[in-house]
Amino acid sequence: MDESTYVVAMTGAGMSVESGIPPFRGVGGLWTKYGTPRMDGYADFKKDPIGWWNRRANKEADAHILELRDALEGAKPHAGHYALAEMEKRGAIQSVITQNIDGLDEKAGLKNLIEIHGNRTKLRCIECNERISLGSFVPLYAPKPCEKCDGLVKFDTVMFGEPIPDDVMTAARAEINKADCVITIGTSGTVRPASGLVWIAESAGATIVEINPNKTKLTALSKISLRSKAGSALPTLLNALIN
Ligand code: APR
Repeated sequence: MDESTYVVAMTGAGMSVESGIPPFRGVGGLWTKYGTPRMDGYADFKKDPIGWWNRRANKEADAHILELRDALEGAKPHAGHYALAEMEKRGAIQSVITQNIDGLDEKAGLKNLIEIHGNRTKLRCIECNERISLGSFVPLYAPKPCEKCDGLVKFDTVMFGEPIPDDVMTAARAEINKADCVITIGTSGTVRPASGLVWIAESAGATIVEINPNKTKLTALSKISLRSKAGSALPTLLNALIN
């Protein structure tokens, strides 16, 4: 990191495990427990948005959504999130691309943050990408059409089968194109296009560092793998950088 000029962190669900939020794959993963959901959630939503919201209002959401929602309610950033924000403040990292929707990175003070899978406390117009922050209020019923373009409004969280909004994808690619070091933290490297960004960085000559207690699909790309949890590795890394 010291020798690099532009360091980008790519975080995944493992980054929030120590905040009490289950990951998706591996030990304690939601997909491990409930099976991976169908990939046509977005197509279902677009077919019948009102029906989708009504099912949600009647808590007919899938079991994994209900479990994830409960864990998200009380979640707070942990020492790893704060260490990452401090690294950004000190110029040790330049940006964070997160696959997480929990908003903990923003709560910990990260500024140059790209939420590639959206943020659970925001709504988004699927036509013009206008986003509305909800704060802690999470709607149960279908929101009004977009005030700007009358388009269909949904949660900002990217659904299975939904393309990544082009504005965040462009921003993420721009960060990756500038990176000469990418630190992957708590991601299995399973889901594209997020994981593909790490491959693009590596093929452009960036050094990849992995922080994950387990091997992942990105281990082979990584010059260094710290087999450690985010909550301990990141504060240790911060200390090493500032002392
Ligand atoms: N610290 C660091 N890493 C951890 C920790 C921890 N305390 N605990 C678990 N991990 C690692 C696991 O070893 C695993 O490699 O976090 C990773 C979590 O992997 P996934 O559950 O696959 O999460 P992620 O890579 O973010 O998934 C990407 O898949 O289902 C979609 O939209 C969902 O954004 C998610 C995407």
